[in-house]
Amino acid sequence: MLDRERFAALVPTDRDLAPDECAALARSVAELVDLSALERGAESFQLLWRNEHSEAWLNQQLENRDTGFHDHSGSCVGVHVLEGVARNEVLVIGGGARRISEYGAGESFSFHGSGIHRMEHDNGAVTIHVYSPAISAIGHYDVVDGALRRTPAPPNEGSPPSPGLTAALGAES
Ligand SMILES: [Fe+2]
Repeated sequence: MLDRERFAALVPTDRDLAPDECAALARSVAELVDLSALERGAESFQLLWRNEHSEAWLNQQLENRDTGFHDHSGSCVGVHVLEGVARNEVLVIGGGARRISEYGAGESFSFHGSGIHRMEHDNGAVTIHVYSPAISAIGHYDVVDGALRRTPAPPNEGSPPSPGLTAALGAES
């Protein structure tokens, strides 16, 4: 059972949020989620709130999920992990080491609104994602015929993996 009224009491509605504020808000909301009361056994993506300045999702994964490289059309994000493991990869160009950070239960991170990133959620991961402002569109990236290509997608559609771009970046170290 999700108490959306208690979430709403935490959410500023008069301004956009900075990335670290999104992460802090995701963490505060996580404290109001009773994990033992969550319905299990099904993958779910539950909208916690959406207003002009922010939106938030509670996601449960039942299998490993790779979002591929994408942007949020200017919206920053803060993520808090309630259970399991999630990884965030910032797109690094120029042959440097891939920049992948791993987060476990109780950890949070944020990502600014003008970057390109990829997330992996392990099977069993439960995460809260706060975006600000509310996402208007997703841009999905992959390499097609050697060229980087951005494909726009609706905000509520999960973005697919980026096999060409991931291969071009080389092995994870
Ligand atoms: Fe994202």
